[in-house]
Amino acid sequence: MKRKHATRSRSSALLEQPATVWRHSQRNRVIEDAWLTDVSVGLKVGFDRETHSTTSLFGPRNKLVRSPQAETILGLISALNAKDPYTARHSIRVESYARCIAKRLKLGPEITKMIRIAALLHDIGKIGIADSILTKKGPLTETEFETMKEHPALGASILGPIHFMDPLLPLVVHHHEWFDGNGYPAGLSADAIPFGAKVIQAADCVDAMMWPRSYRTGFPISKIITEFEEGSGSQFDPNIARITIEWLHEYSAIMESQLAKGAGYD
Ligand SMILES: [Fe+2]
Ligand SMILES: [Fe+2]
Repeated sequence: MKRKHATRSRSSALLEQPATVWRHSQRNRVIEDAWLTDVSVGLKVGFDRETHSTTSLFGPRNKLVRSPQAETILGLISALNAKDPYTARHSIRVESYARCIAKRLKLGPEITKMIRIAALLHDIGKIGIADSILTKKGPLTETEFETMKEHPALGASILGPIHFMDPLLPLVVHHHEWFDGNGYPAGLSADAIPFGAKVIQAADCVDAMMWPRSYRTGFPISKIITEFEEGSGSQFDPNIARITIEWLHEYSAIMESQLAKGAGYD
C-alpha cells in the first residue's frame, strides 16, 4: 500500500507534464556517445552470453563497460532480467527497432539517444508487477490488466531518483498512449504525446506482435504491416506508422531469418 501511494503521487506530476515541457537540459549533456556505446557493447556481450547462461544477462563485468551511466543502465536491465528474462530480452529488441525507426525518421543524435535509452528501460516498472500477473500463461483478466497498467508509472518511480534519467521519464510514462487518446495512463492524444514515446510505442508493438507468447503464436511480418496500416491515426501516429511500415518492408527478410534462429534483430 505504501508503495502504491508513493507511485501515485510521483506519477500524477508526470502525467500532467505535456510533451512540450520536455527539454534537453545542460545537465543531461552528460549523455554522450561513448557511454551509450558502452551500453551497446554490454548488451551485445550479454546477448551473446545468454545462450550459455540464463541466470545473468551480462556475465562477468566487461572492461569496456565502465562509465557510471552505462553501468546504471546495464544494472537496471540486469535487474529486469532477474525478474523476468522475457521482458529483458523484449526491451533489448525494442531498443533495436526504435533505433531503426528513429534513423528512418532522420531524428537528431540527442533525441535518438534519449529514445534508445528510454526504449531499453520502457518496461522497467514491470519489476514492481506481481509474478502471477507478469508471467501468467494466458490472457490477463480485466483486474489483472488494470494492475499491469501501473507499470509505466512504476518505471518512472524506479528511474526518478537517477538524475540523468530526467528527460527520459515522459517517454517511459507515456509509451502506452494511443494517437487517438485511447491509450494509457493519461489518455494523451496526437502532439500531446511525447514524440519519443510514440516511436517507442511503435517499436514495442512490433515486438509484441512478432514474438510468440505461451497463449499465441507470433504474427508474420505481413500481418504486422497490416496492423500498422489499419492502426495509423488511431493507435499509431500516422507519420511514425508510415516509416515503420517502410522499415518492416525493407527488413522483413532479415527479421524473418533472425526470428527463425531465435535471435533478436539488430
Ligand atoms: Fe509497456
Ligand atoms: Fe514493452
